[in-house]
Amino acid sequence: MAIIAPSLLSANFLQLQQDCDMLNASEADWFHLDVMDGRFVPNISFGPMLVEFFRKSTDKYCDVHLMIEEPEKYAEAFRKAGADNLTVHIEACIHLHRNIQQIKALGMHAGVAINPHTTIDQLKDVLADIDVVCIMSVNPGFGGQSFIPQSLNKIAALKQLITSQGLATKIEVDGGVTLQNAPSIIAAGADVLVAGNSVFKSPDPVETIRALKAL
Ligand code: DX5
Ligand code: ZN
Repeated sequence: MAIIAPSLLSANFLQLQQDCDMLNASEADWFHLDVMDGRFVPNISFGPMLVEFFRKSTDKYCDVHLMIEEPEKYAEAFRKAGADNLTVHIEACIHLHRNIQQIKALGMHAGVAINPHTTIDQLKDVLADIDVVCIMSVNPGFGGQSFIPQSLNKIAALKQLITSQGLATKIEVDGGVTLQNAPSIIAAGADVLVAGNSVFKSPDPVETIRALKAL
């Protein structure tokens, strides 16, 4: 059974409390919180202040996805805000190994996200040090984009790599996940499904989460 991580980026920001309550009452496992800086990605979302509000609104695991440059400057602030997992982008980290050690030293789980153009080979030497690999199945920056089909091969190859090394690293898939494509994403080896629009824009988000969880 996959871990379901709705992305609050697709929530209604004028009624976040209701959306948090809805997720709390649902079978969602994680809150996926997308932080964007307008530099690493062409969009700006929110920072530690809002993460702290989400933290106070849920007991669920807070999975913070940093789409920002120089993430090392903010790791501590996100720890204080209550992040359980902090994911940084490989493309934004000059000293990725150091970033990962920093996140773990702060007491969080460490994730590394890779953009659609980045190969999984680049993860080999840090795979044993991280808890989550986030495979971006869209170009990061916006919710509601279409899943890039090539991502399926990437998920399968990464799964093989993780299994061959005997690791417990989770594979998270982020971008364009729907009820229709989720079965093939899970079959390819995904452990965590991020879902923004497919949950929040559906007529019955709680039921959509239940259906994703039942796959
Ligand atoms: C994209 C974000 C995603 C996104 C997912 O940059 O990292 O988490 O909000 O939204 P959907 O599921 O609508 O693609
Ligand atoms: Zn994300």
